[in-house]
Amino acid sequence: MNKFKGKKVALVGNGLVGSSYAFSMINQGICDEFVIIDLDKKKVIGDVMDLNHGTLYGASPIKVKAGEYEDCKDADLVVICAGAAQKPGETRLDLVAKNMKIFKSIVTKVMESGFDGIFLIATNPVDVLSYATMKFSGLPKERVIGSGTILDTARFRYLLSEEFNVAPQSVHANIIGEHGDSELPVWSHANISGKPLRSIIENDESRKHRVEEIFVETRDAAYQIIESKGATYYGVAMGLMRITKAILNNQDVVLTVSAYLEGEYGNEGVYIGVPALINRTGIKEIIEMPLNEEEKSLFDRSVLVLKDIQAPFEE
Ligand code: 2OP
Repeated sequence: MNKFKGKKVALVGNGLVGSSYAFSMINQGICDEFVIIDLDKKKVIGDVMDLNHGTLYGASPIKVKAGEYEDCKDADLVVICAGAAQKPGETRLDLVAKNMKIFKSIVTKVMESGFDGIFLIATNPVDVLSYATMKFSGLPKERVIGSGTILDTARFRYLLSEEFNVAPQSVHANIIGEHGDSELPVWSHANISGKPLRSIIENDESRKHRVEEIFVETRDAAYQIIESKGATYYGVAMGLMRITKAILNNQDVVLTVSAYLEGEYGNEGVYIGVPALINRTGIKEIIEMPLNEEEKSLFDRSVLVLKDIQAPFEE
């Protein structure tokens, strides 16, 4: 790592999520070079032209290029958004077999280039595919990061911010666990502009009910979006951009991402959404929030869901 002049990101998978991520990266000027790799080379050429035309008005100069796997060689970050996406009615976990195969081939090709940077994974089921990427690549766990519950946390904070009329930035609340149906909110640490959420809703039955509904809306948001427009992409793209910024700008910021547990939260051998300190080395540290009994048992259940899915793929 660190053997290049500028900051280089290679994107593998130029579908709706990948190209939305590319657009948000151009806007934010977080890297100097952005390479797009996809089987559909014709669409890549069109997107590269289109994105380069916008760079004059971005935050900082950035070169967008169409590339091949060998371009990953000196990339700081390879972001994988490739693979099949959910169709209406499908869960994220339904995608595992299809995308596992695709990942084996992608990660092998990226590693054959001589890549020695950080992987950021967005494809679903993201926790299981992050685990697979660590295995396929042989890279240390801190250099494989999944987008995890970054988006679920953003959805949750947005909905709470609407309910309490404060900016999402002043809502402190996390969704942890699987990025999917078994995820959970950490109610015990949630606070709205510094006030514990539990004490705000304590004597207010209707608010208590609404806040519970907000979690259900958070958990099920993707189903609603997929039903309405076929796919979700802007939200996750912003989440990926945020993680990228934390890595490339060495921010030491805490984000909920999918990270590999080795004893943290009393579990091991699984990638799952937890708060983690992110910087230029990748995942510097997993932050262990003290969970109450109910949260701990929901988290353990989510670990089991993921372990069940990943078990058939263990060598
Ligand atoms: C999402 O939560 C489908 O995982 C995607 O938007």
